[in-house]
Amino acid sequence: MLFKKKENNLPAGEKKKNVHYLTGKETREIAKSNNRRIRELEKKKRMHVSEADYTTTMRDDNNIVEFDDLHTHFFTDAGVVKAVDGVSFDIPKGATVGVVGESGCGKSVTSLSLMRLVQGPMGQIVGGSIRFNFGDGKAYDIAKMPMSDMRKIRGEKIAMIFQEPMTSLNPVFKIGYQMDEMVLLHTPNCTKDQAKARSIEMLQLVGIAAPERVYGCYPHELSGGMRQRVMIAIALSCNPKLIVADEPTTALDVTIQAQILDLLREIKAKIDGSVMLITHDLGVIAEMADYVVVMYAGRVIECGTTEEIFDNPLHPYTIGLQHSKPVVNRKVDRLYNIPGQVPNPINMPDFCYFKDRCDRCVGKCSGEYPAFVQVSPTHKVACYLYEEKTNSEE
Ligand SMILES: Nc1ncnc2c1ncn2[C@@H]1O[C@H](COP(=O)(O)OP(=O)(O)OP(=O)(O)O)[C@@H](O)[C@H]1O
Ligand code: SF4
Ligand SMILES: [Mg+2]
Repeated sequence: MLFKKKENNLPAGEKKKNVHYLTGKETREIAKSNNRRIRELEKKKRMHVSEADYTTTMRDDNNIVEFDDLHTHFFTDAGVVKAVDGVSFDIPKGATVGVVGESGCGKSVTSLSLMRLVQGPMGQIVGGSIRFNFGDGKAYDIAKMPMSDMRKIRGEKIAMIFQEPMTSLNPVFKIGYQMDEMVLLHTPNCTKDQAKARSIEMLQLVGIAAPERVYGCYPHELSGGMRQRVMIAIALSCNPKLIVADEPTTALDVTIQAQILDLLREIKAKIDGSVMLITHDLGVIAEMADYVVVMYAGRVIECGTTEEIFDNPLHPYTIGLQHSKPVVNRKVDRLYNIPGQVPNPINMPDFCYFKDRCDRCVGKCSGEYPAFVQVSPTHKVACYLYEEKTNSEE
């Protein structure tokens, strides 16, 4: 439910009401509506769900994950934040899919929804499905899975490297303890000694020079790069089929960044898996990804192969992103920035979310949110400019 503040039509001379301020009545209405919706959703989560209820079929068996019209909302005191607002894209088996977009566009919330780690009860998946190709001909809809069954998938089939390694590692436990815990949880009949041996092997695999020493260290005793390597080692300890890496190199300097990306590439080849790589660094995407998904304000606005997105960007936002990246040997006074701001996630407009920042608007842009236009078998864009072109070509 959206709570839009109305402008007051006050007589001339009277002070206009602050439209950003919520009255006590409005705050109570929001809280009441949030509580009702959260109760419904939490009740649904607690209901008994059998495997048959969340078993599904993949649209294409060559995909490991298919996001289909996913909606994840946060029920905040100021209203409902539609952090993910109808996201659909696929992650093919063996491919790296880069997800780009500016801060707050819903990249992390999409990946957290895939892991079912959205912070409840405020954050909830309210619609859509996330189909996961479990193997052996089975596919599950993660959005419908009970939390207890998520353990079959989390860690073992999908591993996540979080945005900030310092906050994802527990500061009061040694690295070894945290790594062994993961191995013990996901390996049946594993002894403590076997778990330790596996953890040390993983630390060695991710290029840590003295794995036995690091095994006995606390997170604060390691550098940022080492912590990120430990996170990767933890993620790999169960041979996952999909690695979700949320800005794995943001907190690192460029040389360590390059090493971590090389490592990620090597490991992907070793486990013969897929990677969902979230970043706002287009350079990283160009180097690593096979496919690119561009998000804006909780929606996918363009997706295609890396060549399509870099050589032929179509959406005015993607074009703006390309312009704003620095290019060696191109002399500029200052880097291009896309004017304007992302709309308020609580009061999203009914029309294209990029309209207020777009310098190529056409008449239709004030109408409904644009549907996807398929410009090639792999390239699609949500923008009226291309709908008109494809229509006129037909
Ligand atoms: N726990 C939360 N409570 C309320 N709103 C949240 C919460 N987590 C995320 N959001 C909102 O969801 C939206 C998407 O956030 P998200 O973390 O996915 O952005 P992001 O694309 O990963 O950005 P960044 O590049 O900065 O990491 C934002 O508007 C954010 O304010
Ligand atoms: S639909 Fe219109 S407003 Fe939106 S990006 Fe395309 S041209 Fe710009
Ligand atoms: Mg994020």
